[in-house]
Amino acid sequence: MVKNFNLDPEFYDLQVNWQERLKKEKNFFVKLIKERNIKKILDVGCGTARHAQMFSSFADNVTAIDPSSEMIDYARKNIVKSANVTLINGGFEDLNMLPVGGFDLAVSLGNTLPILGSRKKVKHALKSVRKKLEEKGAAVFQFLNFEPRIMEKNRFYKPKIIKKSGKVYFFIKHFEYGKLKTRIDFLIATISNDGDVEDFYSDSSLLCTLRINLFLKMAKNAGFKKIELVSPDGNGLFDKKKHISLYALLQK
Ligand SMILES: C[S@@+](CC[C@H](N)C(=O)[O-])C[C@H]1O[C@@H](n2cnc3c(N)ncnc32)[C@H](O)[C@@H]1O
Repeated sequence: MVKNFNLDPEFYDLQVNWQERLKKEKNFFVKLIKERNIKKILDVGCGTARHAQMFSSFADNVTAIDPSSEMIDYARKNIVKSANVTLINGGFEDLNMLPVGGFDLAVSLGNTLPILGSRKKVKHALKSVRKKLEEKGAAVFQFLNFEPRIMEKNRFYKPKIIKKSGKVYFFIKHFEYGKLKTRIDFLIATISNDGDVEDFYSDSSLLCTLRINLFLKMAKNAGFKKIELVSPDGNGLFDKKKHISLYALLQK
């Protein structure tokens, strides 16, 4: 099977400005953790586990799960330093293998839900996350705003040029909106000191086009009672005509 989102953990980690991203996201999560007295957190599709490491300072236990063994190995070796983070190799499909006992908060960030690729898989994922929550538990899904006009406006992300260990990495991302599936293309070139292209990588994945009304319907069908849509900075309400992404906060 060809893996959706087959991006090397080192490349993934390199193309995100983590300092900026976590600074922006931290307040939203810390407020949520404090307000809801959250002790146990589950992060599904944790990637390189930077969020899990951040959560570990604010919660008793963090379980971070990802089906890519490369991501989990990279996270274990380079990112996770806290003893209260457990890294597990698996996906939404494997949540029932987690030890019994619910979580106060489950998160799935960085567009992981649409990366599942189909509506059927998203529906299943929402249900399986709900099952892992404590009675008053909550879930946060962060994903792109798939409104066609917003997608069209942002279809080419600004290229990123990153210098590391004497090399230059050039990243380009592009979206091709489709009613059911949206294609995401990554191009990465490694450029030597002399300006020659040393390596070239391209990857395309099909995302489930998770427009907001569809998501709301699916989340209700999965049994979530209250759903709040929050702006990407975590400070206000989501505006589907303006924002490029959102947090959906769901109550069990
Ligand atoms: C764009 S990355 C997001 C990583 C991280 N959550 C973040 O916000 O930076 C998407 C992640 O979803 C994972 N993924 C792919 N299929 C999945 C599945 N079926 N269940 C859970 N995670 C999955 C990938 O391995 C990848 O690490």
